[in-house]
Amino acid sequence: MLDTRLTGRTVLITGSAQGLGAALVRAFHAEGARIVAVDVDEAGNRALARELDPQGERVLPLRADLRDLDAVAGVCRAAEAWSPVDVLVNNAARPLAKSLWETTPEEWDDVFAVNLRAAFFLTRAVATGMRERGFGRVVNMASIAGQTARPTGAAYGSSKAALIALTRVFATELAPHGITVNAVSPAMVDTPMVRSIDADALAQLTAQVPLGRIATPDEVARLCLFLCSADSFITGATYDINGGALMR
Ligand SMILES: NC(=O)c1ccc[n+]([C@@H]2O[C@H](COP(=O)([O-])OP(=O)(O)OC[C@H]3O[C@@H](n4cnc5c(N)ncnc54)[C@H](O)[C@@H]3O)[C@@H](O)[C@H]2O)c1
Repeated sequence: MLDTRLTGRTVLITGSAQGLGAALVRAFHAEGARIVAVDVDEAGNRALARELDPQGERVLPLRADLRDLDAVAGVCRAAEAWSPVDVLVNNAARPLAKSLWETTPEEWDDVFAVNLRAAFFLTRAVATGMRERGFGRVVNMASIAGQTARPTGAAYGSSKAALIALTRVFATELAPHGITVNAVSPAMVDTPMVRSIDADALAQLTAQVPLGRIATPDEVARLCLFLCSADSFITGATYDINGGALMR
């Protein structure tokens, strides 16, 4: 059995109110971790925290719009004051399925602000304490859209490709301090983001997956638990979890 030894660790998860983020909160909570759950959706985030932790002891829901750097800094201050952060999962994302002809400058900036800039500044902020304590785990939620060409993925795909590059740079800079940084790259996962895709398009995409189905959020969460385990010797890696949709 995998011993993740996350009991007593504090894990900050962004995009925690639904989908994959909510599955991550549940998975880390089940491992005994303390969770700082960060989302712009305050109601969804609070509901999940209340369900898992009615006493408010092990889950701290924080509302923040990660496009706002002051909010990012505020989240880090509030989290560290509650409990020093050992693990960070940069999971929040702004999806955008628009071609290069349709994407507006505002949409481009929004996508990069959530998907890349917030991950950069959150990591840097929590890495300060991790460096002092000589231990840290960071997981960046990438996407197959950052590894392959998709017709409507100009901003989203390039933000995820950049997140994979950022993962390697951070892994290199933070390795001497006992901090690992890895990316997890799903294809399609059964979340509200995917359920919003037109049914025919979804069926077509699913047919291209060698394993014949899309991933469950729990499958992706389990991979993240593994990468965040205390003994992990893995850093700077991008883990594909795509049912064989991309083999490289
Ligand atoms: N679902 C998939 O098929 C899939 C595939 C590949 C990668 N991913 C990646 O997995 C991660 C989670 O995806 P999901 O499907 O659960 O997404 P989702 O859209 O269901 O949930 C994303 C969460 O992020 C939050 N969020 C969005 N913008 C925010 C902001 N500005 N500030 C704070 N919170 C914000 C949303 O409120 C939401 O709770 C994302 O990084 C996504 O790119 C998902």
